[in-house]
Amino acid sequence: MKRDELQKLLKDMSLEEKIGQLVQIPGFMIEKGAVLTGPAMEMGFTEEDLFNAGATLSVFGFDRIKEIQDDFMAHQPHHIPLLFMGDIINGYRSVFPIPLAQGCTFDPALAGQLAAMSAKESSASGLHVTFSPMVDLVRDARWGRVMESTGEDTYLNSCFAKAVIEGYQGKDVADADSVAACVKHFAAYGAPEGGRDYNTVELSERTLLDDYLPSYHAAVDAGTEMVMTSFNTINRIPASGNAFYMKDVLRKQWGFNGVLISDWAAINELITNGICREKEEAATLAINAGVDMDMCTPVYASSLKKLVEDGTVSEDLIDESCMRILELKNRLGLFEDPYHHADNRNADEVILCREHRELCLKAAEESIVLLKNRKEILPLAKEGLEIAFIGPYADNKRLHGVWSMLAEEEDTVTVRQGIEEIAQNNTVTFAKGCRLLDKKYPLYGFRGRVEEEDVDDEELLLDAMTKAKRADVVVMLLGEHPCHSGEAGSRADIRIPKPQRRLLKAIAKVNSNIVTVLFHGRPLDIRGVDRRSKAVMAAWFPGIEGGRAVARLLYGETAPSGHLAMSFPYCVGQVPVHYDSFTTGRQYTGNDENRFQSKYLDIPNKPLYPFGHGLTYTTFDYTDVELSGDTVTPTTDITLNAKIKNIGNRAGTETVQLYIRDLYGSVVRPVRKLKGFKRITLNPGEEGTVSFVINREMLRFTRADMTFDAEPGDFYAYVGTNSATERHLKFTLTE
Ligand code: GLC
Repeated sequence: MKRDELQKLLKDMSLEEKIGQLVQIPGFMIEKGAVLTGPAMEMGFTEEDLFNAGATLSVFGFDRIKEIQDDFMAHQPHHIPLLFMGDIINGYRSVFPIPLAQGCTFDPALAGQLAAMSAKESSASGLHVTFSPMVDLVRDARWGRVMESTGEDTYLNSCFAKAVIEGYQGKDVADADSVAACVKHFAAYGAPEGGRDYNTVELSERTLLDDYLPSYHAAVDAGTEMVMTSFNTINRIPASGNAFYMKDVLRKQWGFNGVLISDWAAINELITNGICREKEEAATLAINAGVDMDMCTPVYASSLKKLVEDGTVSEDLIDESCMRILELKNRLGLFEDPYHHADNRNADEVILCREHRELCLKAAEESIVLLKNRKEILPLAKEGLEIAFIGPYADNKRLHGVWSMLAEEEDTVTVRQGIEEIAQNNTVTFAKGCRLLDKKYPLYGFRGRVEEEDVDDEELLLDAMTKAKRADVVVMLLGEHPCHSGEAGSRADIRIPKPQRRLLKAIAKVNSNIVTVLFHGRPLDIRGVDRRSKAVMAAWFPGIEGGRAVARLLYGETAPSGHLAMSFPYCVGQVPVHYDSFTTGRQYTGNDENRFQSKYLDIPNKPLYPFGHGLTYTTFDYTDVELSGDTVTPTTDITLNAKIKNIGNRAGTETVQLYIRDLYGSVVRPVRKLKGFKRITLNPGEEGTVSFVINREMLRFTRADMTFDAEPGDFYAYVGTNSATERHLKFTLTE
């Protein structure tokens, strides 16, 4: 539709119709069994309200979507199509690793391919908008939604945000294989006090500007069609009523002119947050903050008409929001094709096709992080070894994260299946060993209580002990349940559940050759696991090909290449912990006799495994690290060149990381910030060069006077395999 036609349409629409476009109705109102991803509210909708709605959520499957679209368009006075939206955050049916695992690939291009694959399957099935990517910076492993982010670094998150949005939206969101992206949650949702979901966020303006906002800005610059508000407060004003960030920053400063949708019930929660007394006030605050669409509550639907009629809310605001929603539908081509090219044939062809499975496997292999490998117990020998695979994840089909609501367990390749494909000749045994969950703590997911089949604990233990005693090597497959992370999945104790800790302790008494593979949605407190294992692998929730990926990595069919996108804390008491911290006035020197230092009495300051850490089955030697010059000016860049040599006897991939430290500033400066990363694959004995350009742009920050710029002075450029590298060179910025 041309713009003037849209404007004519808007002019012809009644006030009720225009307000209707600003409402997203929950899928369960029109589709029995549609999953609830937030607190259900009595919507109090009339049938007219319903058919005037602009969008719906969590309705999947082309046949149903077509029926609903036809029904709604037939009833809608101007036959305006409905937007179908959903949380497809790591794959539709071809489910790949959770976003935090994707961050560990340090491979945004791969994440872009995954997003394109997800868009293809989603769009073929009738979906128009996905509520992804989540780009919230995360530094607190207690918060369950760290699994949805690509980690603790601003630059890494920004690179992934761009790649994923481009992957979803392709060249044109009207294309058959594209869906509209919706970046979330704006803003700084990842910093809730105490790691407790929905809790208050208290950040300095400068931390917000330099650490938390850039990834959303990168998403807007990448052309995201939508932005979603966050539940939390920013400077003590909940995002959905925060005109400064939703209008002055997002729209005026960043130029975002797409659709801003609230998170589920977040407009109504302006009341429970205590800044609005009732729905009319909440609707007024939100529409004035530029929130275009009310997710799954009747606040806009029941209040705006009266507010416009009594002059409290200008109808221009309704028109602006309605026009942005009509423009999104128009960019999707829905006025010409309300099904957005979807049909079942196309869906059947693309869903779970071989190419998609292969991409899921590649992503799972690249996202798994080898944290420890003492005495090179890994890779496992294929011949002449008896190996016992023990734990609740030894033969478990639930290897996808909590948001993978369309995943079918029959699609998953379990670890057992992966092992049996490879280990033809040697003796492998399998044992569940214990229940996954601790009965003491009932766990509730999106669809109610998480049930676990009842088991005879003693029988399971006995079977596992018998197999462990006989084995040359024991591979423990342990971890959280997917519902231990994700939305409202905050934990104050971030260890694996107690039954599994008990099992590991018992096995370690009869066999010291232990490799542990973890399945989890967050960095865990793994001190107990670490000291009882010669090797530890972080597999996250790797998706439908996860079992095959774990098996191939354990046997060295391929080598691990993941690097942590989020630090593994020493223990939960150390959280939040992140690599780009500040020195403080009393930096720890290592001498514990000096009491007056910034340190703990009972644990180290350093995380157990730092951001960027990841091992493989070979060793890389960094030689000839040099700078092309030692001075950066507004017109002169320098280049850091590093020669990397594979000095081991297996091929491997190294992720070379560049960090920069500003030695002095008008405000305190982090001990280092990631400014570049490159993956390089080398055969045994092979050498390669990795280069990074260092320019003045990357040295900018929010200065004492709140201007964003660089300051002349001395800097260190660090280069290495993780954020703890001490290998560095000095350079100067002159102005
Ligand atoms: C949830 C989540 C958000 C999700 C939305 C729709 O509350 O916070 O990430 O996209 O509701 O399911």
